[in-house]
Amino acid sequence: MGRSHLAVRMRMRRHKVFLLCVLGICVVSFLHYYKALHSIPLLQELSSPSNLKTLKMFSDIFWNGPAADSHSQQDFHRHSRLKGNVDSNVILPGPPDRKLHERTFILHDDHTPLFIHTESGAVCFKEGTDLTASASQRRLLHKEINPEDEEVNADKKVVRCPCRQGWHGPHCGIPTIVYHSNLPSKSKVTPRKVPRRVINAININHEFDLLHARFHELADAVDVFLICESNFTAYGDSRPLLFRQMILNGTFNYIQHKILYIFLDHFPNGGRMDGWIADDYLRTYLTKNGMSRLKGLKADDVFVINDADEIPARDGILFLKLFDGWTEPVGIHMRKSLYGFYWRQFGTLNVLSACTAAMLFKVYKGDGIFLRRRTYYSMSGFREYENSTGRILIPWAIGSPVHYGGWHCSWCFKPEGIHYKLISAQNGDFPRWGDYNEKRKISYIKDLIRTGGWFDGSIPEYPPTDPKEHMYAPKYFMDNYKKYHYLLENPYAREKPVSNEQLKNFK
Ligand SMILES: *[C@@H]1O[C@H](CO)[C@@H](O)[C@H](O)[C@H]1NC(C)=O
Ligand SMILES: *[C@@H]1O[C@H](CO)[C@@H](O)[C@H](O)[C@H]1NC(C)=O
Ligand SMILES: *[C@@H]1O[C@H](CO)[C@@H](O)[C@H](O)[C@H]1NC(C)=O
Repeated sequence: MGRSHLAVRMRMRRHKVFLLCVLGICVVSFLHYYKALHSIPLLQELSSPSNLKTLKMFSDIFWNGPAADSHSQQDFHRHSRLKGNVDSNVILPGPPDRKLHERTFILHDDHTPLFIHTESGAVCFKEGTDLTASASQRRLLHKEINPEDEEVNADKKVVRCPCRQGWHGPHCGIPTIVYHSNLPSKSKVTPRKVPRRVINAININHEFDLLHARFHELADAVDVFLICESNFTAYGDSRPLLFRQMILNGTFNYIQHKILYIFLDHFPNGGRMDGWIADDYLRTYLTKNGMSRLKGLKADDVFVINDADEIPARDGILFLKLFDGWTEPVGIHMRKSLYGFYWRQFGTLNVLSACTAAMLFKVYKGDGIFLRRRTYYSMSGFREYENSTGRILIPWAIGSPVHYGGWHCSWCFKPEGIHYKLISAQNGDFPRWGDYNEKRKISYIKDLIRTGGWFDGSIPEYPPTDPKEHMYAPKYFMDNYKKYHYLLENPYAREKPVSNEQLKNFK
């Protein structure tokens, strides 16, 4: 029986091959015919419309009315347009700095080759691959492959690349923080031909040191940073546009070409009574205004929204950029610390931070605040979107409780910065410590930093830390240790008692 079954299959296969050949010939002759008729570069024509369509679908999603012309665009509008009054409140600010906050940003594909094709047929992520591994070592790896290990492309022959430490998978493109994550499909991810574009959105107050660290950490993984600044504090007071000044005076020259500046010039109704309204509205405005000013957005681009004190590790974001096959929404397990990286807190903070542009608009109504809440499955567009992706969407997170996928550094300022944060905090995080005179004193704040204490008088327990530990702080801080010393070592830790011996030497 097995044999006749085989024969039937082979016959069928021969038929299939024949049909494919016929089809191929038809296509080729049709192309020739068509080309002769119209004498246009046909292949270009054929390859572009789908691109154009997504491009059109995603640009100006919110600011175009129902006057949109194509069906798919109207469809898309139905799924993604905001109900309620939030979007009608969104007013693009006028002069005085028309240029900076009205600029648009064009997303481009990046064709820089990040993968190499080896003679043996492997596709290897350059950075993760040990390119010095000798040819014989590579042959060995080739032989060692056990078909059972390789659920990946079970039908194709997979040639493994020799990975450097910290990189995994047949292409050496999976960083440790994804390898040890709970991503269910990690054995099935495949490198993309063209990377996704990554959009990183944050609101900024005065977290400028953390901002430098973010820019350096993510410079090659992120295509555009949407940075929103308001001339109101979260409390509703007026504040100077420091970030704008810094862009104009060249502080961010090294990354300026990737920054889209967003200016929030109004304070939401009710924000003074309920600070959380103001807090949410910042994210809403950031996403709506920022995304509407991107041109050429594609459905599979990645949107990452963080607070200014949450810095994702570069390798995890790069993985989202370079691979297909992960699910969404995507969280990030972040190392938690207070005042600096030296007061590490137990566990990790896992915040849902990333999704594709398609999910952002079809499920989260184009509003980043919905992504950060954990209630994606009850969003009205979720089932339909999940169905359209043809897979089950389960959230996962980069990193794990023991592998940090980023850093969350709370209240990481010098004492003056903490003072400023206290007085500009929203009216919602009760008790509002900024309302207490004695808690705003610089000497009191220094004492908190020294002990790791909190404004309520408690002193939490912290595990010991060592700047040499893996993922202690973003690389940029470690590389500029002296400059950012205040974040890396406790600046007010009590000096060790000086011994008589040392005193003698001193004299
Ligand atoms: C913020 O800027 C807007 C537009 O320039 C202006 O109308 C508003 O009064 C400013 N608010 C504060 C608190 O400075
Ligand atoms: C740029 O502006 C910021 C904010 O006003 C200021 O603190 C900084 O010193 C300025 N830098 C330069 C190089 O002028
Ligand atoms: C899911 O997709 C299938 C086929 O694409 C369609 O027939 C079905 O109605 C969809 N279901 C929902 C709930 O959208």
